[in-house]
Amino acid sequence: MKITFYGQNSLAIQIGDTHLLVDPFISGNPLSKDQVDIHSLKADYILLTHAHQNHTLDAETIAKNTNAIIVSNFEIANYYEAKGISVHSMNHGGSWEFDFGKVKYVNAIHTSSFPDGTYGGQPGGFVIEGEHKNIYIAGDTALTMDMKLIPLQTELDLAILPIGDNYTMGIDDAILASDFVKCDKILGVHYDTFGYIEINHEEAKRKFYDAGKDLMLLDIGESIEL
Ligand code: NI
Repeated sequence: MKITFYGQNSLAIQIGDTHLLVDPFISGNPLSKDQVDIHSLKADYILLTHAHQNHTLDAETIAKNTNAIIVSNFEIANYYEAKGISVHSMNHGGSWEFDFGKVKYVNAIHTSSFPDGTYGGQPGGFVIEGEHKNIYIAGDTALTMDMKLIPLQTELDLAILPIGDNYTMGIDDAILASDFVKCDKILGVHYDTFGYIEINHEEAKRKFYDAGKDLMLLDIGESIEL
């Protein structure tokens, strides 16, 4: 499994020959818009955690370029289906065996509306099991006891957690979240894009290190292999 970071919560995940994109927000992100050409991105599936623009901005364009299937909650799936895009709708607690692996849509505590005010259902995260590697994409969320449910069923190899504070968990809560999901390998997301969520990278890494955990902060376009 190869994971590439495109800023904010935007990720490309390659599982075998299948390309997933998560929360594509690139053309409007000052940190990534000049570094990543959305027309060059491959996507078989686009996973959306919630409807906020800083997670969905480029989803329609990329889906139409690639014929990717958008996977999200029922309301978000309906929103894109009405635009002629192929979708797979899910809802909280539900799993589906896709051709690349198993995906579960799990709880997040946040909000979810499109920029025009359209209701975007309840926000979520994804647990993905594929190629013998398991990852948790928390999406935008507060720290929540529901995270403790995840390791009852899935032994995670990587937890992708928001760490920017203000709109989501900050660093201290993300450390607790990694305890809750029983995964000490963390990829930090949802930081630095806007003023309210700028973080001190060294301080963040040190706090995780002091808690016995490994926080990775990738450059735009940088990849890791699991
Ligand atoms: Ni959000």
